Amino acid sequence: MPAVATDLVEEILDLKKRRNAVILAHNYQVGGIQDVADFVGDSLGLSYKAAETNADVIAFCGVHFMGETAKILSPSKRVVIPDMDAGCSLSDSCPADKLAAFVAAHPEKNYFVIAYINCSAGVKALADCICTSGNAMKIVEATPPDRNILFVPDQNLGAWVMEKTGRKMDLWQGNCYVHVDFTRNSISKIREEYPDAKVVAHPECTFAVRLLADEVCSTEKMVAYCRQSPAKSFIIVTESGMLHRLKKEVPDKIFIPGPTDLCACNDCRYMKMNTLEKLRDCLDLLEPEILIPEAIRAKAELSVRRMLTLSR
Ligand code: 13P
Ligand code: SF4
Repeated sequence: MPAVATDLVEEILDLKKRRNAVILAHNYQVGGIQDVADFVGDSLGLSYKAAETNADVIAFCGVHFMGETAKILSPSKRVVIPDMDAGCSLSDSCPADKLAAFVAAHPEKNYFVIAYINCSAGVKALADCICTSGNAMKIVEATPPDRNILFVPDQNLGAWVMEKTGRKMDLWQGNCYVHVDFTRNSISKIREEYPDAKVVAHPECTFAVRLLADEVCSTEKMVAYCRQSPAKSFIIVTESGMLHRLKKEVPDKIFIPGPTDLCACNDCRYMKMNTLEKLRDCLDLLEPEILIPEAIRAKAELSVRRMLTLSR
């Protein structure tokens, strides 16, 4: 009911003020959360905001590794998330102990580990540098040419960066269950239905899907691309929450969700665990709270800050 939703929004805004909190939300959050947030963006933009905030509390509406990144960068702040179970299949595909064992088993490679930000604090602590989908090419290009790069955990993003930069890398075989659900078949079909629409895909999509795309980029760059393009309609091949942000920021254009073989659009079940009610509760109770052992946090901070410096 709209009246209840208005009350809830007022409650959230009131709690935010009393807690001196900032609400950060990823582009995949439900519309109601995006609308109440102080900042909505991609992993890179949200990391900068988390590092720069003067608030006492960061309420992070995204998934667990994003809350961890905020805590890594702002250890003196209290970082709370609406749902502790909001994880990430991609992050889970690369446990820190397995990564440590793999690197130890290949001393001859003397790996320079680049970890996509979609990973745990433990993996960030093992990495030499972090990247996001928004700066991956820049980070790889800045890596000394004599080093062997191990890119973890997303094989699709890694393959895309190799195509773009020509730099050979060893790729961890992880992926995002949401993005690999888009298929050549599902995207070809929607493109036939909307022949004038540009296809915009996230680099976590498979090679077969990226081949069909007019543009491959991070969620934040999708906003700029659609705004600047002379095209009037776009097929957005990423998680469905992105459509809310695009419709709001580029209201004069048409956005069509990328379908899978089974559904007209695709939700990330982890991102969608967060609700306005849970956001209200985490601001009220100041939990669930993100806590990271200091030895891991401090190491992880080095690799995250290296990324922030390189991508300025
Ligand atoms: P972006 O950094 O491009 O927003 O991507 C985050 C993510 O989780 C993609 O699945
Ligand atoms: Fe993780 Fe994929 Fe969800 Fe992004 S969309 S948070 S990579 S499971």
